[in-house]
Amino acid sequence: MELGARVAAALRTGLDVRVDPVDTLIRPSTRDGVDYQCNIAMSLAKKLGRPPREVATALVEALDAADMVAETEIAGPGFVNFVLRDDWLAERVAELLGDPRAGVPVTDAPRRFALDYSSPNVAKTMHVGNMRSTVIGDALHRLLAFAGHEVLPHNHLGDWGTPFGMLIEHMLDSGLDGSITDLNAFYQQARAKFDADEAFATRSRDRVVKLQAGDEQTRQLWQRLVDESARHFQAVYDLLGIRLTQANIYGESFYNPYLGEVVDELTELGLTEVSDGAVCVFPPGFTGREGQRLPLIVRKSDGGYGYAATDLATARYWTRERDVTDLLYVVGSPQAQHFQMVFAVCTQAGYLTDKHRAEHIAFGSVLGADGKMMRTRAGESVALIGLLEEAVARAAKVIEERSELAEADRAAVARAVGIGAVKYADLAGDRLKDYVFTWEKMLAKDGNTSVYLQYAIARIRSVLRKAGETVQPGTAVRLGEPAERALAVKLLQLPAAIDAAVAEYAPHKLCGYLFETASAFTGFYENCPILASSTPDDVRGSRLALAALTADVLVLGLSLLGIDAPERL
Ligand code: ARG
Repeated sequence: MELGARVAAALRTGLDVRVDPVDTLIRPSTRDGVDYQCNIAMSLAKKLGRPPREVATALVEALDAADMVAETEIAGPGFVNFVLRDDWLAERVAELLGDPRAGVPVTDAPRRFALDYSSPNVAKTMHVGNMRSTVIGDALHRLLAFAGHEVLPHNHLGDWGTPFGMLIEHMLDSGLDGSITDLNAFYQQARAKFDADEAFATRSRDRVVKLQAGDEQTRQLWQRLVDESARHFQAVYDLLGIRLTQANIYGESFYNPYLGEVVDELTELGLTEVSDGAVCVFPPGFTGREGQRLPLIVRKSDGGYGYAATDLATARYWTRERDVTDLLYVVGSPQAQHFQMVFAVCTQAGYLTDKHRAEHIAFGSVLGADGKMMRTRAGESVALIGLLEEAVARAAKVIEERSELAEADRAAVARAVGIGAVKYADLAGDRLKDYVFTWEKMLAKDGNTSVYLQYAIARIRSVLRKAGETVQPGTAVRLGEPAERALAVKLLQLPAAIDAAVAEYAPHKLCGYLFETASAFTGFYENCPILASSTPDDVRGSRLALAALTADVLVLGLSLLGIDAPERL
């Protein structure tokens, strides 16, 4: 941000210290009449061995920002408060009119990300537990790409392992014509037969051996099962508006050919030990409750490979074959230790070097009204597709009374509102926290919801339609009223909000910003008549410009969260 650059320059000339503009610790102020607060004097004071207020004074004296800053004030132990000049704010806002990026720069340090998200298990219906990875991952996909990074999404389907023997045998028993309508029921039937019928269990085990040996017919049957499931996943992605496609599928089976090489490499490096017949790596620093070393099992005692081995091969593939710099895994918090151990072993093996960053993008659970993991009354996990259909149906009720909606548009609007509400509720809180799934709260027209943002956008578009003119870039902006000024300050903070959301993989930072911006717009809309006949022409033009830019910022922000904004609502 511009103010950061000015403060960094002042620190250089006034105190001879070099601080990157992004590290100047400048935050929007919550105090009335103050726009920004800078805390750098406190952290520099220790380093310089001078009192913080003295450092703050030197900063203010060296500040070259008369064109931008109207007032500075040193507060408390050494905070520097800034009030920006109205004319500076007005010019910056005017510059953004018609800018499709609303002032957000493209990064000058682009990286290449392998982004693992959604990653459901084949032959299981997608449930709420899969939703968070899908929704958060998709938002990160959009945010990173918009910031100028390269994103290679990959869907790590659970499509391999011992259950496939019984699933294939069950598929053969049930006849191969027709598609599987209920994947969960299919899985449970196979399981039940496996447990009750010894002959079936034996067939299933033989089938796993055939599958792993690459038997052609078995492979084809397996592919059918994967395709059936992928069709179901794609239906969920399409309804949710998720960017994943069939081309992004890199299931566990994809890495199967590499697993032997991985074990050989680890063994050559002297990293493996055989423990109870299994080939293991014991990465330093991981111990269990009794202080015993924890193994990452790379080959089981029966010769098979598991989840961990596959993740080693996955990191190896994306860094070696696809040259990614960053590996992100959007997976629930319970797998934290798994990923820490995988990253540790990958570093020991040289799959991850200091060129690479690997990060587990963890998240909490979706809870029911009782505060426990969300379940159906029968105690089962909640099917995602049904939940999403219910969201659309409930949204249709919410918009029922809106008369200005044409009948033909209603279905599309209900979808944007319903799906948007579910996604936004999933994104609006710190991802590490659990949240309670509440229809009333997520579909509320007030508060930090997508519905509130969508209404604000529709209101602005309606005003612009009534005005009958499009806002031209270069329109002069005037900030006479406090509510106009407050809105302008917010509109200029989109780059900082996106930056924070990208840097911390934290979509909720963007949500919070959008909510503040829509609230600032509400204040403006209530206090500053736009189309009233008493409004002078130049003020009307300026207010239309502020309104139009607000809509642009909100639409862009929602689009980065994967949420549509209907034209009318
Ligand atoms: N299929 C796994 C599950 O449902 C998630 C896979 C996450 N990605 C990975 N590379 N391990 O728990």
